[in-house]
Amino acid sequence: MSLPPGPPLPRPLQALAWTQRPLPYLERCRARYGDAFTLRIMHWGDWVILSDPADVKAVFTAGDAVGVAVANPLLSPVLGPRSVMLLEEPEHLERRKLMLPAFHGGAVQADAEMMAEVARREVGRWPLGEPFELWPRMQEITQEVVLRAVFGLAESRLDGLRERLRRLTAWLNSPGNLALLAAFGPGAMTRSRGYRKAMGPVEEEVLAEARRRRAADPDDDAPPDVVSMLVHARYEDGSPLSERDLRDELVTLLSDGPTSSTLAWAFERLLRNPEVLERTRAEVLAGDDAYLDAVIKETLRLRPPVPVVVRRLLRPRTVAGRELPAGTTVAPCIHLVHRDPATYPEPRRFRPERFLERPPGTYTWIPFGGGVRRCLAAPYAEMEMKRVIRTVLSSVRLEPFERRAEAVRKSAISFAPSRRGLVVAEPIAPAEVTVA
Ligand code: HEM
Repeated sequence: MSLPPGPPLPRPLQALAWTQRPLPYLERCRARYGDAFTLRIMHWGDWVILSDPADVKAVFTAGDAVGVAVANPLLSPVLGPRSVMLLEEPEHLERRKLMLPAFHGGAVQADAEMMAEVARREVGRWPLGEPFELWPRMQEITQEVVLRAVFGLAESRLDGLRERLRRLTAWLNSPGNLALLAAFGPGAMTRSRGYRKAMGPVEEEVLAEARRRRAADPDDDAPPDVVSMLVHARYEDGSPLSERDLRDELVTLLSDGPTSSTLAWAFERLLRNPEVLERTRAEVLAGDDAYLDAVIKETLRLRPPVPVVVRRLLRPRTVAGRELPAGTTVAPCIHLVHRDPATYPEPRRFRPERFLERPPGTYTWIPFGGGVRRCLAAPYAEMEMKRVIRTVLSSVRLEPFERRAEAVRKSAISFAPSRRGLVVAEPIAPAEVTVA
């Protein structure tokens, strides 16, 4: 049993290529070795990268023949081993079932107006006529939305948590900390004083909130939020989630990076494609969301915030025409699937129309992953992005600070625009103003 071929570079060099410039590295490997190839990366072992939709489907539909393997080594220390993302079956599905109600259709609709309100307040703080970075502004919005959805707290009680989360996000996004990780592996990060100082206060606050809900009268009139839902949830045998479970689940929900970087990219691409921007704005102002929906799908295609998902084979399995042994790490590569010219002609072009002409395919459009581990907040995130873009486009006119496109820059937890989405906002004519 042999793995598909891959670059013969020594492991430390492959680790460097992977941590510094993973996307061009993946593209070069596919050009050289084809749709299935093996990367050998120091600290993380051998990964079989897959980009043929048939192989991706084989992994996503393999059920309990595949288990967890962590793609981003930052994830495990941050989320914690009892997070739904890192649990193995059958525990994973039980936990997923407990969490799904928080993100079902009714919950998404109930929060839609809150999302727009948070965006309106944020846009109201933007400077007019001078450059500013959009990505951190988008982080403010998505963090506020998730805080309100998960904790449902009054403004004053949110303040402490908001500040602690900001410090943690800044620490995780610092390039120096990424270098530490690349050099010494994930264990070094969790042991570092800086990490403990950033994460400790978030954990304390999250658990304090969970304890408050546990002590509260279950019949009181407070509106339900995700913390109380998790605190009062019971497995089929009647047992509740432990404190460790609660900590890991709440931190998992709060650590949302993908939505804000996708929003930053949506604006980066829209502002470099004025005809797409104008059509989006016109349709949004006319109250039609179909094109906006295609814009979001195209942004997630071209700039998927999670470029690979990884799984460990629990039993030998034939994938990409080879019998792979149990224990092999297989990695459906979202980035490469989304850039295959056979599915997406002119794959580098930002052309939302492609999703009006043909709906996205289950195994060819996979920004939220697939199978039993598909993102359980996908409808929530899509609604949030729609509400935010709609609100921004109907409140201000954005211009790019420089015409030149922004490059993809890897930060610790996402892939963000290299100038962090540098834009200038101008007021729009009163006749154009419509409340989104
Ligand atoms: C544009 C926004 C988002 C993208 C592109 C995205 C992407 C993903 C992907 C690719 C996975 C699968 C990981 C894997 O297979 O290993 C995932 C899982 C997950 N996501 Fe998201 N996500 C987004 C927003 C969110 C938000 C806002 C939340 C919650 C507040 C969230 C919560 C989760 C959870 C809990 C899982 C684990 C599901 C499971 O294992 O059953 N995501 N997400």
